[in-house]
Amino acid sequence: MRSVVEIVPTQTVREGGGFKVRRPYSMNRVLSPFLLIDEMGPVNYGPGEAVGAPWHPHRGFETVTYLLEGRMRHEDSAGNSGELNPGDVQWMTAGRGIIHSEEPHEDFQKSGGVMHGFQIWVNLPSKHKMMSPRYQEITANDSPTVEKNGVWARIIAGECMGVSSSIDTVIPITLIHVKMEEGTQLYQKLKSNLNSMIYVFSGNVTIPRETTVKTHPQILGLGVKQQISDGELALLSEGEEIIIQSNAFSEFLILAGPELNEPIARHGPFVMNTREEIQQAFFDYQNGLF
Ligand code: FE2
Repeated sequence: MRSVVEIVPTQTVREGGGFKVRRPYSMNRVLSPFLLIDEMGPVNYGPGEAVGAPWHPHRGFETVTYLLEGRMRHEDSAGNSGELNPGDVQWMTAGRGIIHSEEPHEDFQKSGGVMHGFQIWVNLPSKHKMMSPRYQEITANDSPTVEKNGVWARIIAGECMGVSSSIDTVIPITLIHVKMEEGTQLYQKLKSNLNSMIYVFSGNVTIPRETTVKTHPQILGLGVKQQISDGELALLSEGEEIIIQSNAFSEFLILAGPELNEPIARHGPFVMNTREEIQQAFFDYQNGLF
């Protein structure tokens, strides 16, 4: 069974054109293959106030945008464009390079309203960093969800309660949005060699420790913080399953993936393995090769 190894708090920072995000306090603590976990908002914008991320490049990794509230529009250098509505997922593989804009939808911009969602960066192994860019878009209606015994889940990637995602990932990734009623439990199976994390963004949950569960259920979590609260990222130990208990209505993400064991050279929107590759990315971008 997996248990909590460390709790990473989040801080509120400004990103892109100035939108508010909650982000783990130390990015170095986010486990491979994830590079960034940004909770965008929730922010209640007045008419004309919403901001996004104007045209910018990416190379060497994937960006996953998952919208909970609000409405966004995106465009890119390959001529793709589309919109994101609540529950929609955009899994963008930047690969060798893409330039895109991620902005509030013009109707949302006019009306204002609540914007809330996630942007998660997933690293690519060196042999796939220069793959062709691609998009996978799964609308809320098409995305696999499951509800059992007071637990609801949207399976963005991986598998939960017997339901699998339809996203094709380069390396095995699990990304699940879970909502739990108070007093419910979820058993989540995971391959034991994958890194895993839980990010709570409403309520709080408890991960019981194996020794206490089997012998003394009344002393759950005693002495070690096994509770994960709103705005906390928990790094988990290895193991074949996670048992999650909700102490209140709770919402969180389960994230898992392999340790890449490769050097990371990172500068702004580029994530490569060496400094030379970062310099090449700047050169290629400035010379219109994206
Ligand atoms: Fe971006």
